[in-house]
Amino acid sequence: MVRQLDQVSPEVADLARRAQRVAVLTGAGISAESGVPTFREVQTGLWERFSAADLATVEAYEADPARVWTWYRWRQSLIRQVDPNPGHTALARWQKALRQTGGELSIVTQNVDDLHERAGAEVLGHLHGSIFAHRCFECDAPADVPAGNYNGWQPPDQPEEPPVCAACGSGTLRPGVVWFGEMLPMETFDAAAACIRAADLVLVVGTSGMVQPAASLPLLALERGAPLVEINPEQTELSEVMDYSLRGPSGQLLPQLVDSAR
Ligand code: OAD
Ligand code: ZN
Repeated sequence: MVRQLDQVSPEVADLARRAQRVAVLTGAGISAESGVPTFREVQTGLWERFSAADLATVEAYEADPARVWTWYRWRQSLIRQVDPNPGHTALARWQKALRQTGGELSIVTQNVDDLHERAGAEVLGHLHGSIFAHRCFECDAPADVPAGNYNGWQPPDQPEEPPVCAACGSGTLRPGVVWFGEMLPMETFDAAAACIRAADLVLVVGTSGMVQPAASLPLLALERGAPLVEINPEQTELSEVMDYSLRGPSGQLLPQLVDSAR
């Protein structure tokens, strides 16, 4: 039975205190309080007629490379202009504390931003790649491109053409993220699965649980009966397998949880 709570209860605090191997799966919601829009929010300006899901596909890039490229450039600049929030820093703090006593906290994220790292945490894997990495759409050669640098949050008026790949001279560059319908990096997925299987507490933070196969990872905790705790202001696709659902923003609840683990 799922217990829904609006704050960390003594039972949840107890789980956190006893856990030595914590696995955390994060999604767009953990970065929402930093000001990075999640994938389900309505968009404005250049992409007003498109949902994020419409832009994050091979087909969208093939149909209009400049539109998709510019959308990612804009998200890059936005991410560079924001800071990690108390949810990110709480996880970094807990990771350090556990390591000092021989434990481990592994972060597996669906986010393509670098806010966990900037908060001082080490990330086991970015399941959906990184927005700051680039490669050729045709030949896959990695390419170094400085991140987008738009002024403020306003989407640019005009789309920007993606640069041509220096390696093959014909393909254009794309962001190093996983688009809908593409394979996840296998090694990262396997490492994430192994750490969730080995965990004695699994936290699922700020993810709608709608995008597979990432959303299936927490279910691996059920094999060994490790407790599952969700932090999300809304009900999600994963809520029903949770032991506890903490209903609220992760920027408030994660620091509470981490403080209660001491
Ligand atoms: P979604 O945008 O699908 O879901 C965001 C979740 O965050 C929702 O469940 C919100 O309720 C929750 N949320 C919002 N504010 C929050 C807060 N302050 N604290 C905690 N939670 C909050 O994001 P993901 O589940 O990460 O994939 O989406 C998964 C994947 O779909 C993304 O990685 C991306 C996307 O399309 C690719 O780019 C391939
Ligand atoms: Zn190329």
